[in-house]
This record gives sequence, structure tokens and C-alpha cells, in this order.
Amino acid sequence: MKVSFGTIDVSEKSKRLVNEILNSRRLSGGKYVREFERRFAEVVGTKEAVAVSSGTDAVALALAVLYDFGAQRGDEVIVPALSFVSTGIAPLQAGFKPVFVDVRRDTLNIDPDKIEEKITKKTRAIMPVHLMGKPAEMDKILEIARKHKLYVIEDAAEAHGAKYKGRNAGAIGDMGTFSLYVAHIVSTVEGGIIVTDNSGFAEVLRSLRAHGRACKCRECVINTKNGYCPIRFKCGTDIRFVFERIGFSSKMNELEAAVGLGNLDYYDEIIRKRRKNFFYLQKRFGKFSPFLKTVELLSCEEIGPHAFPIILGEDAKFTRDKFVIYLEENGVDSRNLFSSIPTQCEAFKFLGYKVGDFPNAEYVGNNGIHIGVHQDLGKEHLDYFIELVARFLYEEKR
Ligand SMILES: Cc1ncc(COP(=O)(O)O)c(C=O)c1O
Repeated sequence: MKVSFGTIDVSEKSKRLVNEILNSRRLSGGKYVREFERRFAEVVGTKEAVAVSSGTDAVALALAVLYDFGAQRGDEVIVPALSFVSTGIAPLQAGFKPVFVDVRRDTLNIDPDKIEEKITKKTRAIMPVHLMGKPAEMDKILEIARKHKLYVIEDAAEAHGAKYKGRNAGAIGDMGTFSLYVAHIVSTVEGGIIVTDNSGFAEVLRSLRAHGRACKCRECVINTKNGYCPIRFKCGTDIRFVFERIGFSSKMNELEAAVGLGNLDYYDEIIRKRRKNFFYLQKRFGKFSPFLKTVELLSCEEIGPHAFPIILGEDAKFTRDKFVIYLEENGVDSRNLFSSIPTQCEAFKFLGYKVGDFPNAEYVGNNGIHIGVHQDLGKEHLDYFIELVARFLYEEKR
């Protein structure tokens, strides 16, 4: 049997829309991107959503917005040490310095008790990641942010559908960012989106994704339409070539939006199926403790079922590689549970951190994996996986 890591649904509606769009020959961002943004904002419960080219760009653009609101290039943003590498890369791409904080091993998320010691005069934002769709401890994070007057940008790339105290992940901080890459719950194949209630941030985001182009015609003081001053011939300003900030080239196109729109029609169903799969595995996983562990959820949290994390306990006598190879030989696709970005990811050596600085992130980086809980997996796949793990532990005599 094969237990795949991810899946993507391309609905009949998406296929119809893609054909319509191709025939219309209006392929770059337009009404379908705006419709996708409107519907995504509705799902998350924010006033605004701005679609971009990737989840990584979503983070970089959200940070770059802060230059319009008091930040300076070279300012710092606090991020968890354990995450997908984008969490470290995107701040650098935006001109910020990522300042890493260790995670908690039981939540896989940033340890709020270790944030304040990293705050300096240059800190502008805290960027928690809801890793594996388990919400970060937002109350504590918001309190620290309020105390130190910092922005909070949630990296909800893996947290479509997650909730914290009844609020949707991504809609709790000043801005929330999502990845729409194929492995994610809502996908546009490649893509990302930023959500916010702040229309000032949204306006800057729309400028940033289009090279920093002006949002308003200064002469007419009128919002541009699709990036153009609608009455430019009257005022004489060609807004297409007025650039107000250092931007990115990060627009979503109509074909991607069409895939996303079809996907959104099944959002609730996808979340329900994935959650069911997640809890089915979680319930059966208890018996493998302390050799293999997963995350627990608090009563105030709802998982955004991205994948199922597994961490080898300290008592395990086998290595992660042995476990992964066993799973692979038996048809179960897995991924490592990322790494400590500052100390286990070569690209970040230049920041000068050393192994041992982030013991929990490093432990998970060495001992964690995640497997799929996607909507195309059924009970038979999950039972097969659980039996496989039980057999592995038996053969290993733990
Ligand atoms: C936590 C996190 N942030 C950012 C990203 C970047 O998303 P993308 O691959 O769409 O650039 C990912 C990707 O999975 C992620 O897991």
C-alpha cells in the first residue's frame, strides 16, 4: 500500500475556469484573483486578502509593509528557530534580520518565555509560525508584543483552518500569511496570500507585489484600478511608472486563482477529512509513547491539519533514518520535520550561531518527521501505517 504525503484536487470548476481564462487571453492578475482574494478573506474572517506568488513572498511582503509604518532596513524580527527555511529567508529578503528563538518540544512552536530576552531596540515584529497547523501560544505572544509595541505577523503557511480561542489562525495578529503551494490545504499550485484587517497594510501590499508601484495617483488622489490611474489621461500621470517603495515582482495570475477558487469550494470538506485523519492517528499514537511522540492539542485550539508530526523520544534506541527507511520501504512517504534554521541549515552560518544554541529545535531537527493526513487518505491507509509502526517498534524491541 502507498501512503502519500500530499495531494491536490483540481475541481471541475477549476478546469472550466482555466479554459475560460485561456480563451479570454486575459491571464495576468484580474477579476479571478480579486474573487479569490475576496473569498479567502471571507474564509479566514479578515477584511482584506492580498494574493502573491508564494508563501515565502507573503512573509517577505508582510514584513516589507512595516517600512511604511516606522521600520528601518536592518531592523529585527523574532522568529522560531524550527520551521521551514522560508521563516529565516523571507525576513532577509525583506531587509530584516531574523532573530531566532528556540521552540518548545511539546508544541513545536516558538517558546514565548524565551522571546523577551531577544528583544532589542531594533526589534519591530514577532513572527510566530503555527507549525504543522498547531496554533502558537498567541495570548502570550500578543501580550509581549503589546508591551514592547511590536507588530505580530503570523506565518500560517501550514495552518489553514487552525483556530486559537475561536479565532482563525492568520486573523489574530496584525497580518497573517499563508502558503498556497500544492502540499497545502488551499492551493493555487504555487502561491501565497496575506490577510489583514488593516486596509492601510493591504494597500501597501498591493503596491509591494507590483514592484512598489504607487497605489494612488498623487495628482487625482484616487485609487488606481488594477494598478492604473483610471483618469491618468486627464491628469497626465502615468501611474504605471510611479514607484514609491522597493517592491517585489510577486503577482498571482488568473490561472492560479482559478485553481484556488475551485479548491475553496471544498474547503470545509477537506478540513473535516484531514482533521478526522489527524485525530484517528493521534488517538492510536499514544501507545507508542515514549518512543514516538506527536503533538497534543489544548481545549482552546483547533488543528489546521497540515500533516502529522512524529518525534522520536529520548528513549528510542533506533535512529530516525532507520525509521524513515523502514516506512519508505513499506510505501509510507514522509518528510523530515525541518531543522533548526540558524544552526542546522548551512545557508545561515553567516549569522554566527552555534550548534547547542537552540537545543529543542535541534532535537526536532534531528529526530522529527511528518507524514500526510490529506483528504485522499482513508482509514485503511491509517490502519496500515499504525500497524507498520507497531511492527517496527516490536522488531526494534523499542
Ligand atoms: C511555515 C512555512 N512558512 C513559509 C512557507 C513558504 O511557502 P511557499 O513554499 O509557498 O513559498 C512554508 C512552506 O511550506 C512553510 O511551511
